[in-house]
This record gives sequence, structure tokens and C-alpha cells, in this order.
Amino acid sequence: MINRISILDVQEFKNNGEKFPMLTAYDYTTSKLIDQVGVPIILVGDSLGQVVLGYDSTIPVTVDEMIYHTKAVGRGSERSLIVSDMPFMSYHIGLDQTLHNAARFVQEAGANALKLEGGKAIADKVKRIVECGIPVMGHLGLTPQSINQLGGYKLQGKTFDTAEQILEDAIALEEAGAFSIVLEVVPEPLAKLITEHISIPTIGIGAGKFCDGQVQVYHDLVGLFIDFYPKHAKRYGKLADSIKESVEAYCNEVRSGE
Ligand code: KIV
Repeated sequence: MINRISILDVQEFKNNGEKFPMLTAYDYTTSKLIDQVGVPIILVGDSLGQVVLGYDSTIPVTVDEMIYHTKAVGRGSERSLIVSDMPFMSYHIGLDQTLHNAARFVQEAGANALKLEGGKAIADKVKRIVECGIPVMGHLGLTPQSINQLGGYKLQGKTFDTAEQILEDAIALEEAGAFSIVLEVVPEPLAKLITEHISIPTIGIGAGKFCDGQVQVYHDLVGLFIDFYPKHAKRYGKLADSIKESVEAYCNEVRSGE
């Protein structure tokens, strides 16, 4: 039996100064490919709302949709740690609702850990989930589930006060038992400060090079999502073009009778 990466391995990465990648996946085939390359953490992100389901934000994504996709990712992966996003409002109404949903992700969907957006405001929920034996990854900075509050997908923590608040949120998450924290679209010096200040790993996206790990949305990385490309996403491939070329070639051969 192959051993899956665990949260202890993720902590070891930080302790040993070993930078690590995390990548999203939402289906069996992609999960299998990413797993085979040796990406230690697969995130079943609620970004699937945009890149897979065609919503215009992550807000409409439901627990059932996340569970459906987490199951598929789990079937494709043997070795990666599978982290699933708890979607909008699935951990806000009360502790009972939070724990009920968290349990579904682990029992029904096979997630190894959960990611929740927010800091101090949700630290009590994080603590209880962790006490139940479910590892939690935090998410601070640009938190897309709060897009209506933030007023757009823009840099967070620009002023001294907002930067201080993000640092305090990171400390609160560590104290609540989170095993790592995603820092999305925050200034590089702030990400560096947080990374040095807390003992659990930080995982950056648009947060500069000093985080312990980096995460990207798979569709951005391989050039598959054509609606928009975030500034911080480096495109390593042009899959959208390649798919269109293959489909066109097939259509041409069918039409010509070949
Ligand atoms: O949903 C997602 O894909 C994410 C990453 C961008 C961190 O939360």
C-alpha cells in the first residue's frame, strides 16, 4: 500500500525549508495526472464553481457539489493529501451545522483535510473541527467567498491596520490548530512576515516567493480556462488551444469523409 502524504509531512516541509507545490483538481483524470507527477497536496477548491461549473463566483457552490467532485478526485489519487474547500455558508450558521458538513467531507467524500476561509471570526469552528480529528487549512487575504464584502478580487493587507489584522488572523488560526494557511493576494513583505512568525506552513497564491508552499488553480496553470487569467497565475501550457485544434482536426476529418 502506498502511504498518502499527511499533514505531518507538510509540517516537515516547512521544518526542513523544503518549498512545496499544491494544485487544484476537480475530477478523476486530472487528479490522477497530478498525483502521478508527485504534487503533495491536491486542493478540491471551490474555484470549481467558476472553472468547472461556469458560475461567476464561488458563492453558489454547494456542499453536495464539493462532495461530488472530492469523491472523483479521491478515486484518481493514491498519494497526494486531498484538501477540500468548505463552501460559502457551510461553516457559518452554527457549530452543529459546521461539524455535520465537515464530517460529510471526510466520511462520504474521503477528504483528508478541509480548507476554511477566515481568521479570528471562525477560529472557534476551526478548533472544534480539529478536535474531531479533521485537519484544517486556513485561508486569509483575498477570500473569494467574501467577494461582496471585499468589493472585488484585489490586493488585501495594503495598509498597516489591515496587514496587522491578517497577521493576527494567522496567529488565531495557528492557535486554533490549523495545520497550514493559504495567503491569497497579499503583499510579499506581509506574506514573508507571517511565514516567519508562525510555525505552520504558509501556502501562497499571488503572495510572493517567501511562502513555504505555492498553490495555483490547475486550469490557469495549463491554460485551460479562457474567461480570464488572474495576474498572479503563470501559464505553463496552452491546453485550450490544443483542445480546440484536436476538435477541429476531428471535425474536419469527419466532414471530409476521411
Ligand atoms: O478555490 C480555490 O481554488 C482556492 C485556491 C485559489 C487557493 O481556494
